[in-house]
Amino acid sequence: MITKIIQIDTDDLQEECLKEAKMILASGGLVAFPTETVYGLGANALDKEAAKKIYEAKGRPSDNPLIVHISSTKDMEVLARDIPEKAYRLAEVFWPGPLTIILNKRECVPYETTGGLSTVAIRLPANQIARQLIESSGIFIAAPSANLSGKPSPTTAEHVIQDMDGTIDMIIDGGKATLGLESTIVDLSGETPIILRPGCITKSMLENVIGEIEYDPAIMSISPDVNLVPKAPGMKYRHYAPEGKLTIYEGEIAKVVDSINAIALENCEKGHNVGVIATMETKDLYRYGAVKTIGSRQEEATIAAGLYAILREFDELHTEYIYSESFADNSLGQAIMNRLLKAAGYHVVKV
Ligand code: TXA
Ligand code: MG
Repeated sequence: MITKIIQIDTDDLQEECLKEAKMILASGGLVAFPTETVYGLGANALDKEAAKKIYEAKGRPSDNPLIVHISSTKDMEVLARDIPEKAYRLAEVFWPGPLTIILNKRECVPYETTGGLSTVAIRLPANQIARQLIESSGIFIAAPSANLSGKPSPTTAEHVIQDMDGTIDMIIDGGKATLGLESTIVDLSGETPIILRPGCITKSMLENVIGEIEYDPAIMSISPDVNLVPKAPGMKYRHYAPEGKLTIYEGEIAKVVDSINAIALENCEKGHNVGVIATMETKDLYRYGAVKTIGSRQEEATIAAGLYAILREFDELHTEYIYSESFADNSLGQAIMNRLLKAAGYHVVKV
């Protein structure tokens, strides 16, 4: 298959491109598109054959449900039933934006889309191109992150091309995904609201709107309890794993730098290909290996935005050992550490 790659400018949405994407989606094809979190791999959410194609293209286990993207809050009612008041309040404050809400599904949503579950994940993205695409195609778009299963989520069209060129119909290049981490997922299908995946919309931001909310205990622990099964099926798979062995160093920053310098030197001397994930504040202190700056500690959003790209860069260099600083485990840091710990297979050295 030849994948059509189209660059699109937010200020000048090309009618032609949207028309073509609409045709592809209507005939059950796959279109990758930008969102503010990461790139999505879209298909008609109510067409079970189209949903199956997503799983095939990603190499994704079919029990891992897809998020359905909508372009207007009222569409929530077409897809879900028993919608609690809290869902409307969250939608009003955080949509369009990086929040996914889990609700009980209506019959029109096929089990192929929900991975066999009786609930459906719904999100109204903020990205203009994403919204125009959903609106103009006149369908709901099921879209997981547009990476091969097990790879870091794509934050640029280039990343999507690396994983999907030749296996999907179209890639819409709308520039860099600004946030860089997947949406926060909140389950409102039961009695108590539960965060199934941390993201840029933090626990306290959500609590300000709907009151108390819990974390799914299976996702937040530093060394996961093997007996706890995450409520979001996708969170149980090994994810975002770089090719090299990633180790996180935790502790006072000066000690972290010293320890990483020591281990990096040791492995460089053995002839290994070594990489270091540094911050703006520390980048000049590292002496050995390929040192890459993820972002600034003064602005955690830059770290979130840089994480997946840096993991892919180390893959391209075939880095064998990657050493990373750790980040504060609060607000946005919680989402960053959740992804970084998974990428590291929870391998942390305390110094
Ligand atoms: O930011 C995002 O959410 C991006 C963009 C493209 O919108 N999408 C994304 O999709 O991250 P994906 O498929 O990579 O992650 C979806 C997660 C998985 O962990 C899945 O298990 C969970 O959402 N999920 C989907 N439907 C669910 C449901 N009904 N119940 C529990 N978890 C669900
Ligand atoms: Mg994903």
